[in-house]
Amino acid sequence: MAFPYRKILILGATSGIGRALAASLIQDGRFVIAVGRRKEHLDSFVQEQGTDKAVSFQFDISRLDEIQSFVKSVTSSHPDLDCVFVNSGIQRRSVFSEPETISMSDIQEEMTVNYISYVAMAKEFLPFFMAKENTPTSLIFTSSNLALVPILRCSNYCASKAALHQWILCLREQLKGTNTKVIEIFPPIVQTELHDAKHQPDMGQAGKSFGIPVEQFTEETMERLQAGDEQIPVGLSKIAFESWEQQRQGAFHRIVELMKSSEF
Ligand SMILES: NC(=O)c1ccc[n+]([C@@H]2O[C@H](COP(=O)([O-])OP(=O)(O)OC[C@H]3O[C@@H](n4cnc5c(N)ncnc54)[C@H](OP(=O)(O)O)[C@@H]3O)[C@@H](O)[C@H]2O)c1
Repeated sequence: MAFPYRKILILGATSGIGRALAASLIQDGRFVIAVGRRKEHLDSFVQEQGTDKAVSFQFDISRLDEIQSFVKSVTSSHPDLDCVFVNSGIQRRSVFSEPETISMSDIQEEMTVNYISYVAMAKEFLPFFMAKENTPTSLIFTSSNLALVPILRCSNYCASKAALHQWILCLREQLKGTNTKVIEIFPPIVQTELHDAKHQPDMGQAGKSFGIPVEQFTEETMERLQAGDEQIPVGLSKIAFESWEQQRQGAFHRIVELMKSSEF
């Protein structure tokens, strides 16, 4: 089976892309462990889906020093977990021609939530997955079209997603030959809370209607997940992905091969 995973932990399942994909995965017969900070959203998700199909954990992924105990707690109560989907993310305006508007704590938080916490989750879940030896497992990550082509208003967000994409390319290569597959989803602009005025006041109400409907995004992404794809550019993200990103990844694979035959 191209997508054999039965029990999926989704970080960032309380709204937008994560919540919609969590519901679709349940519809497809998978069990979901939903994670996020907003308890009322977690509770309503489990109530909607039923406790035979979903459970939740309230967790703030930016609490890096608590990730190890979070992973212990999840894996001891769900030893059959076979897929971890890190999707949580935040986006803030960061325009450096107006340095007075830049908050260094926002910059740091964005990098922590969108990048460092992803790396920390992988580090903690990998020994658990690798110990399963012959059972297929996977790590799924949500990056962005902006990992490939940055925009000016969210320079730090784009940098966090570019860092994530670069690291995922290496991670997939490092895990070749193990039982853990690495999947990356590149959403285009999708109508979610990411661009809400509560997070980006200068966007006003326009933020909500930005991009494609989440249902359209989910349908295309589910098809590609079920087909077993490792890299899933959706909608407009295909333009960059199918052109020069292929050349870039070609260069990356050439270097990987070259270094295999050297001492490094
Ligand atoms: N929408 C787009 O246009 C777009 C485009 C490309 C990529 N993406 C990416 O898609 C992913 C999902 O975003 P979305 O568009 O669906 O936005 P969203 O509706 O705002 O969802 C963001 C999710 O991340 C969770 N989250 C944020 N900070 C967290 C933290 N510290 N700890 C735990 N969970 C946290 C939120 O849960 P709580 O608030 O409950 O904690 C929520 O479930 C993000 O990685 C985003 O960068 C979105």
